[in-house]
Amino acid sequence: MIAAGLVAVVAIVWSITAFAGQGGSVSAQSNSPLPATSRAPSPSPTPTPTPTPTFNKTANSIDDSNSIWVVVNKLRPLNPQDYRPADLIDVPVPYVYAPQLRQVAATAVVAMFAKFKAETGLAMQSQSAYRSFDTQTSVYQGWVSSLGQKGADLTSARPGHSEHQTGLAIDVNALPGSPCTLEPCFADTPQAQWMAANAYTFGFIVRYPSDKTPITGYESEPYHMRYVGIELATEMHTTGITTLEEFFGLPAAPDYAR
Ligand code: DAL
Ligand code: ZN
Repeated sequence: MIAAGLVAVVAIVWSITAFAGQGGSVSAQSNSPLPATSRAPSPSPTPTPTPTPTFNKTANSIDDSNSIWVVVNKLRPLNPQDYRPADLIDVPVPYVYAPQLRQVAATAVVAMFAKFKAETGLAMQSQSAYRSFDTQTSVYQGWVSSLGQKGADLTSARPGHSEHQTGLAIDVNALPGSPCTLEPCFADTPQAQWMAANAYTFGFIVRYPSDKTPITGYESEPYHMRYVGIELATEMHTTGITTLEEFFGLPAAPDYAR
């Protein structure tokens, strides 16, 4: 009698253990007539691979003076050195010296100045935009007279080496004019701070960042905005690469070759 009872208990324990061994439990048991192990796996959604968009660094030339991506520095003069853009237009914004820029950059400046005003209630003006080879010659000579050649080379490009000659660069000032006009302390103005955060959405970069003198060859110019187009400006903003030299893997250009 005791033995029969023991056999019954063992049988019950065995059947529960065997059931659990199939991965089942009473609460997890489905209505399927088949044991879990012999059912086809439930279809899982196949993830659609999203292609990572890679930025095409060769979409525009960095050598052609007519390209919005042209990289001009102390080691990369304009070609020809007296290059003059064919599509310069007057830029309809307030100014210190009447500004001209290439069409595409002019349109972007007008939009940027308008957005700044709409957002902040403050105003900006153009200090200096396109400069010809001859104008750059006198600007550079002016700096040499006041600072000597070494000092001048830190703040002003020699003729044939200035982004201003591309018609794609503009020095921005506050309106009314700032005591820090064309000085590194312009960085503290609302105008400079707004541009540092927003100019890329209009296709501009701050071309001479404060920490990149060994790369660009120039001291901080928080007012010098270079038009490169929204795509490239946005890519540089996203990647945090702040100089054209680093972005395109070009040699640093702290000094002229001779
Ligand atoms: N201030 C910049 C470097 C220029 O003269 O082009
Ligand atoms: Zn400038």
